[in-house]
Amino acid sequence: MTSKSIVRVGDPVLRSVAALVPDPTAPAIRQLIDDMVASLEEAGGIGLAAPQIGILQRVLIFWVPDARATNEPDDGPCPLTALINPVLEPLDDRMALGWEGCLSIPGLRGEVPRHLRMRVTATTPEGEPFEAIVAGTRARVLQHEVDHLDGILYLDRMTDFTRFGFTEEVHEAEAERRSRELT
Ligand code: NI
Repeated sequence: MTSKSIVRVGDPVLRSVAALVPDPTAPAIRQLIDDMVASLEEAGGIGLAAPQIGILQRVLIFWVPDARATNEPDDGPCPLTALINPVLEPLDDRMALGWEGCLSIPGLRGEVPRHLRMRVTATTPEGEPFEAIVAGTRARVLQHEVDHLDGILYLDRMTDFTRFGFTEEVHEAEAERRSRELT
């Protein structure tokens, strides 16, 4: 497996719609997933979509580390998972705000409204059907990555650009806000 460089915002590939994968068990898809895993490991982050390494195929990988999981039912830590041809369906109208970054928009963060709970259906790399209810961080990362398959970036989903900035500045401002709330 080979780590690929991550495509950055401005490249038209990030604004293109990725193609359905006709054969999820094809060796080329196995190779693509291996390359995505290597790329995510090198770049750091909790999710990656194939267009981010320049491949317009409907493939994503994600994981949720302990520290990132919320207390929502159907959230929680989960190991690295690859999904092919994923489809998301909101389970109700509830939305949640949360901070997101993107490996294709390095150094920046924004607060993004996302559906709280979704049903995800997909195919696994073994060719098996996959279905799950996801919430919290699991739902957020999947919405972010499926958006990449449709040429959508988290910036497009933002509603308040006063909640956007460089990671360092945003963290400082958030820490300050929290300490003011405590005093
Ligand atoms: Ni992203």
